[in-house]
Amino acid sequence: MICGMNVGYDRRMPGLHPIESADVAELRALQLERLQWSLLHAYDNVAHYRDAFDEAGSAPRDCRSLKNLERFPFLLKEHHRANYPLGLLAVPRDQVIRIHASSGTTGVPTVVAYTRNDIDMWADVMARSIYAAGGRPGDIAHIAYGYGLFTGGLGAHYGAERLGCTVVPMSGGQTEKQVTLINDLKPRIILVTPSYCLSLIDEMERQGLDPAATSLEIGIFGAEPWSNEMRRQIEERLGIDAVDIYGISEVIGPGVAQECVTTKDGLTVWEDHFYPEIIDPDTGEVLPDGEEGELVLTSLTKEALPVIRYRTGDLTRLLPPTARTMRRIARIKGRTDDMLIIRGVNVYPSQIEVQILKVAGLTPHYQIEVIQRGNAKGLIVHVESNEALDPATRRDLETVAARHIKDNIGITVEVRVSAPGTVVRSTGKAERVIDRTC
Ligand code: DLL
Repeated sequence: MICGMNVGYDRRMPGLHPIESADVAELRALQLERLQWSLLHAYDNVAHYRDAFDEAGSAPRDCRSLKNLERFPFLLKEHHRANYPLGLLAVPRDQVIRIHASSGTTGVPTVVAYTRNDIDMWADVMARSIYAAGGRPGDIAHIAYGYGLFTGGLGAHYGAERLGCTVVPMSGGQTEKQVTLINDLKPRIILVTPSYCLSLIDEMERQGLDPAATSLEIGIFGAEPWSNEMRRQIEERLGIDAVDIYGISEVIGPGVAQECVTTKDGLTVWEDHFYPEIIDPDTGEVLPDGEEGELVLTSLTKEALPVIRYRTGDLTRLLPPTARTMRRIARIKGRTDDMLIIRGVNVYPSQIEVQILKVAGLTPHYQIEVIQRGNAKGLIVHVESNEALDPATRRDLETVAARHIKDNIGITVEVRVSAPGTVVRSTGKAERVIDRTC
């Protein structure tokens, strides 16, 4: 049993868990106690951590402050791969009650495992997340994150049940049926990737329904980068409050951080379970709160697969607390490996999204093609108009969008506007970048 493990979310007393509003000193003391447990647990039970800590000369027993965490080595995606499938397990295999996996790009999946306490903690932080988003016991929650090895569906499912919602476990896909069920069951909450939500809105319109008139009031969107401009469009078209949720399989899945609907100002990290740091992705140096860098997460209570200083690859900043006493992360800008370098300028797909959404007449569906142009890389941004256009109007839209991108990001791109419905739709995480240069 983990030292200082607090009781779970109490569904008879919906509201904040006491730690969400505890004072900072109490939170830091709990974090340190849990960090010391987690470091020892990892060291004592996982060969990888034992070897890595010994090599770095960092003994768990010497960790006397949260700052001491900086002395410990990072855990990288490669370490997961090298220990595939279950080499990082810190408990006997028969204590694992669930396996998930993230698909990864190299074909080797990253397998993650959970004990019963881990699943319980995950349900707690997801219940907390849905509550922070404005969900309440008794609400109907339509879950359109994929079920299966992906953590989105089942993570959201257990959290919504824990909160006391009526869960519709729809998963991704079957877009027409999703709309029928939303129409008939009248959910108040939807949990879905923002890109797939756009496909659902389109389908509602195709069926002659008014998206703003559905029963939906809250959307909990994550698993992929999205912008405030996208938030505004979704909120307007669907007539809901749209909030951001962050998570990553290696750390737990969805529910590491959640944006509160009352403030909509970035995502509160559930710091009693996940300790965040921001590092310079090139040097590994820990950066002060407020500076942009790579998010590094340490699990404080996980049993099956403790993660010590996991490099997420996600770029963000740590912000001071607002709606809760825990710190927030800013909206994720992108992943370090999603960064495109176009004639020396660093570009993230989400920056291009912001510019496209400024152009009236374009839909929010887009895909970016990276091509080789002589010695340099170039971009073609594929977007679509929201109605059929004559060639001259289409060219005007292309010019306007390319100018927005040039003026705001500083790169010259080719924009191609095509007919409505032609840009490929996602049913889960959108594939924003097609790289023709590799
Ligand atoms: O995507 C877990 C999840 C499911 C989060 C449902 C939120 C909702 P993975 O498949 O392991 O896990 O992918 C994790 O997705 O490192 C980020 O790059 C990206 N990501 C997740 N949430 C956000 C977000 C799930 N809110 C990877 N904004 C992460 C931007 C996000 N990117």
